[in-house]
Amino acid sequence: MNSIAIYPGSFDPPTNGHLDLIIRSRKLFKKVVVAVLRNTSKNSLLSIDERVKLLRECTKDLPGVEVDAFDGLLVDYARVRKSSHIIRGIRALTDFEYEFQIALLNRRLAPDIETIFLMPREEHVFLSSRHVREVALLGGPLEEFVPPPVAVYLAGKVRELNRSYKPES
Ligand code: PNS
Repeated sequence: MNSIAIYPGSFDPPTNGHLDLIIRSRKLFKKVVVAVLRNTSKNSLLSIDERVKLLRECTKDLPGVEVDAFDGLLVDYARVRKSSHIIRGIRALTDFEYEFQIALLNRRLAPDIETIFLMPREEHVFLSSRHVREVALLGGPLEEFVPPPVAVYLAGKVRELNRSYKPES
């Protein structure tokens, strides 16, 4: 029991809130598989490979943490990984309804797999990847919101995007 948990998400980009949850999950489970959803939306900033690479870099000193990418149903992936638990973060009441629906849907699909909600540290409660993307694209400081390798990478990525941006005349 309680040996492997999956922590799924988009992680575009990984934030300090995500890292906080990975560390918390690792205290509860022997192994935590951080699983990046492969379905990229049009508004994504980082490719799946970039997210996986950054998450690996951020967790390289955390024993028992593995980073992988998945597609298809989360519960199918959890079964393949022999995981009986899914970890999701709850930041505020606004997250609750969405998370509650997903958790109950996953329970219908796989009654043997349990979802566990964890709360991040208070200072990460306001953090979301969507807002971090916006701050990054507008050239704002990122150090407070994302782990150092992510801050450095995002700054470079945004510089590259700005260089290749050609406004329509
Ligand atoms: O970080 P996100 O975008 O809130 O993560 C959402 C995620 C990856 C947990 C969710 O979209 C998911 O599990 N997708 C896989 C497809 C699936 O299993 N769908 C049924 C439950 S929504």
